[in-house]
Amino acid sequence: MYVCICKGITDNHIREAVGNGCDSLRDLRRELGVGSQCGKCARHARQVMREARSAN
Ligand code: FES
Repeated sequence: MYVCICKGITDNHIREAVGNGCDSLRDLRRELGVGSQCGKCARHARQVMREARSAN
């Protein structure tokens, strides 16, 4: 499912990035560009990141 439409980033992309060491929204923005345009995805991205962390 798409989390960030502007950058075409899915929840899987975010999980993968968390697995590779991304630990904050800032990391995700730097690695994937999530939240770097309209910013509407930030909340959802944070939630997916939290879930991915607790699954690891
Ligand atoms: Fe992520 Fe717009 S949906 S920056």
